[in-house]
Parts: sequence; C-alpha cells; structure tokens
Amino acid sequence: MAMVSEIPAGSGLQRLVQPLGEEVALDSVPVEGDVPSWLEGTLVRNGPAHFGPARHLFDGLAMLHKFAFTDGRVSYANRFLRTRAYQSLREDGRIGYREFASDPCRRLTAPIASLFRQVFTDNANVNVVRIGAQLAALTETPLPIAFDPDTLETLGVAYDPPGRWVRSPTAHPHFDSAGAMITMQVHFGPRSSYRVYRQTANGFHLLAKVPVREPAYMHSFTLTERHVILTEIPFTVRPLDLAAARRPFIENYRWRPDRPTRFIVLDRHTGRERGRWDAEPVFCFHHVNAYDEPDGAITIDLCAYPDPALIDTLYLHTLAAGRTPIPTGRLRRYRLEPGGRTTERSPVDVPFEWPRTNYAVANARPYRYAYGAGAKDASNGEPITTITKLDLHEGEPTHWADGSSFTGEPVFVPRPGADAEDDGAVLAIVFDPARDGSFLLILDACDLSELARVQAPHRMPFGFHGDYFPGTP
Ligand SMILES: [Fe+2]
Repeated sequence: MAMVSEIPAGSGLQRLVQPLGEEVALDSVPVEGDVPSWLEGTLVRNGPAHFGPARHLFDGLAMLHKFAFTDGRVSYANRFLRTRAYQSLREDGRIGYREFASDPCRRLTAPIASLFRQVFTDNANVNVVRIGAQLAALTETPLPIAFDPDTLETLGVAYDPPGRWVRSPTAHPHFDSAGAMITMQVHFGPRSSYRVYRQTANGFHLLAKVPVREPAYMHSFTLTERHVILTEIPFTVRPLDLAAARRPFIENYRWRPDRPTRFIVLDRHTGRERGRWDAEPVFCFHHVNAYDEPDGAITIDLCAYPDPALIDTLYLHTLAAGRTPIPTGRLRRYRLEPGGRTTERSPVDVPFEWPRTNYAVANARPYRYAYGAGAKDASNGEPITTITKLDLHEGEPTHWADGSSFTGEPVFVPRPGADAEDDGAVLAIVFDPARDGSFLLILDACDLSELARVQAPHRMPFGFHGDYFPGTP
C-alpha cells in the first residue's frame, strides 16, 4: 500500500496531494493586485492534509485554511481539526475509525447489531457551513465539528443528527431564506431510508422519509422553491454489506448501470412524494441548482460522469502511479416533465466540477450563471486547470487559466448592494507547480478578469470545499 509521502514529486497533480504538517497564523500575507475594498470577511477552506496509512484522498485528515480580508489586507491561518481521528492518525499513526475508503482493523466476530453502530470517523474534511452563530466542518458521517473562526481551534461536536443506526448525512446541506438548514441523511439499517430534515435552533424536524432497500450514494441533493429533489444514482449498497464491514464504506457500493438515475421529487413544505422521474445512469457528486418551470416541469443541473471511476482514480496509490487519467465531470441539464417524462438538453458541454452559484439569489430559482473548475484539455486527465463561468442562457463559457496551474472550487461572493446575479468576486485556491506554491485567486465574477493574487506561505494540499463568511463570522 502506497502512502502519499511516497508519491514522487513528478506531475503537479501528484505534488498537490503531498501532506502539509505546518500550522501557521500570519497577520498579513503578500498581495499582488487589488483586493476589492468591499471584501470584508473570511474565506474558510477544508480538505485533507495528512494521510499516514490512509488509502484514499478522501481519508486525509481535515485541515482548515482561513483567509480574512480587512481594508484590502489579508491574513492567513491553517490548522488541523483536532478530532478523535486526528488523535489516532496523526499522533498514533493508525486509522482509528471507519473512513470513506480506509478502515481500522475489523472485529469480524461482532454481532450485526453492534456492527450497524460501528464508529465512523469524525474527520470532517469535506465542507464548512455556518449554523446559527457557529461554524462547523462537515463530512458524510454524523459528527459535524465546530471550530472557532478566529483561531480555527476545534470546539467539539457541533450537534448530533437524529437516528440510532448508521447514518450518512450530506456534507452539502442547503439553507432556506429563514436561515434554517435543510439537510438529507441516508439511514442504513433493517429498514433503510433517505430522510430530509429542516434544522432550526429548536432542533431537527423530519420533513420526509423515503424507504429504500438498497440506498444510493448521495453526496448532495437539490432544491426548488417548491420541491426537494433526491437524485438516486445507480451506485448502491446492500445495508447488510455495510454492516458486515468486510470492506471500507465506499467499497461496499456497486455500480448498477442496468438501473436508471432516478429523481425522487418531494414537496418541500409537506414532504409528500410528488413522483419519480428516470434518466440514463450517471454518477454524480454535485448538483449545480434546480428550479420550478412555469409549466409545472422541474429543471435540474448537475455535474455528471458516465460511471463512478473517479472514486477509483483518487486512491493514493493510483495518484502516485500517475498513469490513470482522472475523469471529467460535465454539466447535464434534466427537465422533469409534468407527464413523467425526463428530457435532457444541456446548454453547454464542457468539463465542469465543484459548481457554485450566487446562492442567495440563484439557489432553487431560475438562474443564469454557474462557476466551477474546468479544464483546458480534458483529454490529458488533469481536469482542474481552469476556473469556468457558465452562462446558461448564452451557452458560451468564460475561462480563467494560468499555465499549468491547478484550480480549486471557486466560491462566488456577491458585492454588497449588487443587483446583477454575477456582480461580485470569485475566490479560488490555485496551485502553481512551477513555483510549488499556492495562492488565493480573486477574480471579477462578471468576466473572470484577475483582480488579485494572495500568496499562501506554503503549498496548500488538494482541497474540497469552503465558504465565505461576510463580516466577522
Ligand atoms: Fe462535495
């Protein structure tokens, strides 16, 4: 088994997954260009930064990175989440909990009931959200980890989602206009289900429960103003296989191309199921957006792959070998017709992943612009080399690219008081292999012209998601 520290310093992509042990807190970091004066807040990024004996990119220990903007100046800090998984992996050098694709030693003699309750990781390395006054790091196990936005110090488990068996919540919850979190969990057990919750200060309210025999892997979901849509891709698991724990979590899932991709549409207010629409089998991590059409149809945009091969390419030994091209997601647009038919009419066909929108004005509504990481040339197997803006009305994308640099998720930040959907800035972490360093790229969200580069003091490893919190978080 290859550890990531054995990855040769060959291609830029391989260096992007080298671990980072250093933790710093700097009051000021170098800025080239002009940071917009209205940018007053904090960008927090999350991603894996230490791997040890972990087998998969998704199993690296969560590190938070923070860029805070005040009067055009920028500070930077980074810190590992201090979790039980951190204690086990960083300090004891062993996998202590069930990760996405790495497991601790298994007790094969344990009874089934206890296996369903096996301890999954608290290594919240996927995303960052604000819940009430608190910031929390999330992964797909039910232990969101709260942290201090100033110091990035770990504060402990933010809340414990409902359920008594194994649950896998999405790390991509939504938020409604009242600030309540709408989230989805897959519940595994003797009677498995998809469950949608609305979470307020008063706790979790179960909005919908959809029984399922073989749950699909469901990394994200999407909303319209009237609906919650669960996209059931044909990548499914038998709950007993998960319980038996003969393999790490994701390796229990099977690709079933004989089955459709199924959109399960729920009423957003009553939770009642409105219907199911089928489409060709695809694999998907991320939805872009969805909205209700005047004629009763629903439009859904997501980043699709022909199969789940992407997961296999992100095993650390595969990345180390450097011979397997990384598949490229592409935008797919579906229209769920009132009569039950699904049609596809993607307005643009370019590599597109890590989609973001102007969430406050665009999410769940008709919208025009989406931002993501794309590729100049998807055929070389390095799919994250551009920041790409999609104009879903005109179909002609805009790109930012810089030599052989690798791009991260572009976070859209609206300019205060803006009317136009794309009036704001885009913030993305970029890795420059020529310099073996990382910088925060600030683009004008209208035309992707470059406004500023903020130099990070070290190479930031491959990250997943993050968000911008205006003012003092
Ligand atoms: Fe994600």
